[in-house]
Amino acid sequence: MPLATAVAVLAVAWSTDSARPASAADVLGPTPVPADNPQTPEKIALGKMLFFDTRLSGDNTIACGTCHQPGKGMSDGVARNRGVNGELPRNSITVWNTAYMRVLHFDGNRASLEEQVDKSIPGFAMGQPFPALLEELSAIPEYKDRFARVFPEGITQVNIGKAIAAFERSLLTFNSPFDRYRAGDKHALSSEQKEGMDLFFSARTACSSCHVAPLFTDNAWHNLGVPQVGPKTVDNGRVDVTKNPADTGAFKTPMLRHIDQTGPYMHDGVFDTLEQVVAFYVSGGGNVPNKSPLMKPLNLTAREQKALVAFLRSLTDPDARVDLPRLP
Ligand code: HEC
Ligand code: HEC
Repeated sequence: MPLATAVAVLAVAWSTDSARPASAADVLGPTPVPADNPQTPEKIALGKMLFFDTRLSGDNTIACGTCHQPGKGMSDGVARNRGVNGELPRNSITVWNTAYMRVLHFDGNRASLEEQVDKSIPGFAMGQPFPALLEELSAIPEYKDRFARVFPEGITQVNIGKAIAAFERSLLTFNSPFDRYRAGDKHALSSEQKEGMDLFFSARTACSSCHVAPLFTDNAWHNLGVPQVGPKTVDNGRVDVTKNPADTGAFKTPMLRHIDQTGPYMHDGVFDTLEQVVAFYVSGGGNVPNKSPLMKPLNLTAREQKALVAFLRSLTDPDARVDLPRLP
């Protein structure tokens, strides 16, 4: 048989790979996009440049991409990164699939991706007042042209937020081994990962009561009694936004996709490894008032704990990537 035919036959034989989800919508549902900020390729490209441009911080040393790095699961690999004003009190949250988050930040104090940018640039991490930034960007011909092509008003505070938010809404990940397994490729997970998956979705662990698939978050807040470390001696979390005492010590349930790339873990980065996180759950969480009733000591063998970690590592799409843009 001619070589080309042999290759074609082989390709068909191996095409259990039709069991790959074709789009984010297949797995996560339609991507939410606000009516007043539709996605266009030019806007996404502009937003990507801004996201990775250190000119967006007060001393031109820090970009969004400093704390949300492609090689680090769109997080940064440190417990608490430093902004232009010093160490932040919290761990950077991945921006993969951030379009699907109904709540943003560990305490939910940002209503939309546009508002998130609007408050972050002049805030603690980036320390760049907007009037100075508008002047800085307007002096760069390529930015002037690109803004003019995307927005009738050109470079404005609102349009910077819109462009970056549009780029963020393009950061979709939905093709992990777990997704391929769910789409029908029975070989996508190892037997250890399957054991971990069954535990994750079981009443024995209750993991999936809060980390609800397919996004692995319930877009809500819970108090696990996570030990507090870092520059903030007390972080009360959600209560600072709602003023409801029942929310004291509650933090947003993070998405677990790409979790093996986004450590350290928890709102303050207190745990370095997934093994430590699982051990924390096995112990029933911290000893605090107000703790979620779902947090109880778990009776898991060492082998089961290892399987749970192996399953968590199956939530990363090895093909999901973001190439750095060329900056003007
Ligand atoms: C110095 C580090 C740092 C920089 C710079 C930074 N971030 Fe973040 N980012 C964080 C931290 C820390 C959090 C969690 C904040 C919290 O919960 O209070 C976060 C949270 C977020 C979230 C919320 C994700 C979610 O699912 O809740 C988004 C979106 C985001 N950042 C986008 C951006 C954008 C856009 C920029 C640039 C304008 C930016 N970040 C700059 C560290 C940083
Ligand atoms: C009661 C709801 C709840 C249950 C049950 C739960 N989680 Fe969590 N999980 C959370 C919240 C909330 C956080 C963030 C806590 C914080 O930052 O203080 C979190 C954080 C994590 C993190 C770190 C995420 C990150 O980006 O830092 C991992 C990993 C994790 N959980 C895995 C699990 C596993 C595995 C189980 C089952 C053994 C489980 N969770 C059970 C709510 C829950």
